[in-house]
Amino acid sequence: MQSTNGKKIVVVGAGNVGEAIAYTLMAKAQAEDIVLVDVNQDRAKGAALDIAHGTSFHHQVQVRQAGYEECAGADIIIITAGIARKPGQTRLELAKTNVSIIRSITESIMKYAENPLIIVVSNPADVMTTEVKEFSGLPAHRVIGSGTSLDTARFRYNISTELGVNVKDVQAYIVGEHGDSQVPVWSSAIVGGLPMTEYEEQTGISLDKAAIAEHTKVGGAEVIGLKGATFYGVAMSVSTIVEAITKDEGAILPVAHVLDESFGEWAGVAVSLPCRIGGEGIEKSFRIPMNEEETQAMNHSVEILKGFWRQVKE
Ligand code: 2OP
Repeated sequence: MQSTNGKKIVVVGAGNVGEAIAYTLMAKAQAEDIVLVDVNQDRAKGAALDIAHGTSFHHQVQVRQAGYEECAGADIIIITAGIARKPGQTRLELAKTNVSIIRSITESIMKYAENPLIIVVSNPADVMTTEVKEFSGLPAHRVIGSGTSLDTARFRYNISTELGVNVKDVQAYIVGEHGDSQVPVWSSAIVGGLPMTEYEEQTGISLDKAAIAEHTKVGGAEVIGLKGATFYGVAMSVSTIVEAITKDEGAILPVAHVLDESFGEWAGVAVSLPCRIGGEGIEKSFRIPMNEEETQAMNHSVEILKGFWRQVKE
């Protein structure tokens, strides 16, 4: 049996997403102690027990339900809680409801944890990441939104299936909002070491970029339409962020955090860019090269997020 790394990870919210994250962390032996916290204690207890029953097939990991006091000494705290959009409810109404939920969760976390490292998954993800950062007073590099890490994974998957290449050979990023204004950075896309245009030229393939970008953007909605919710994809993306932190990897992943003044007009709200992630969280965020059109799209995406944030705070 593979030994674990002695880490303690708290997952707040034991719905589909929190449960899938806990399962993934256990299956990959990414923690010694996985704690599920939820207002619905029975749901959290049931989820923890279900996953714990399988540990004999995987790793000697503790999976359990508990309260916020377990945030004390946690290496990472992952927030997945929040309500799903109800029929007829606008995105803004949902954001306002979830912001108040997230605020009370952040308060409970900060009561017990000293200088925690928080990953925010709850939707709308960028607004929630901004709220956790602002409300907690933590430095921006310790509040990481899962942001466009999942959109980027969908983008790479869609490109790889169109080209018939291994998805690991596609290096391409979605930046900006985890939502409708997300920006596919085609001009920096690389396939097997070749710039995308070069790859297309040498193979004679010409990608329908607009169709791929659209398919990527609606990827979450497509899954929700088919099975009611998305959770495995996001669980795998969060597990990759966790690994970058617990192994101090210096992995470069597209995640959201509140950008500082060095980013000029983009500063002040959480937005995704490729970031180097290590043991202390985000070590550096990068201005991925973008052409004029992509830069305009990024400016627009940040404007959308700022407008949204202003309305949520009203
Ligand atoms: C997703 O993109 C719904 O944010 C969720 O899968």
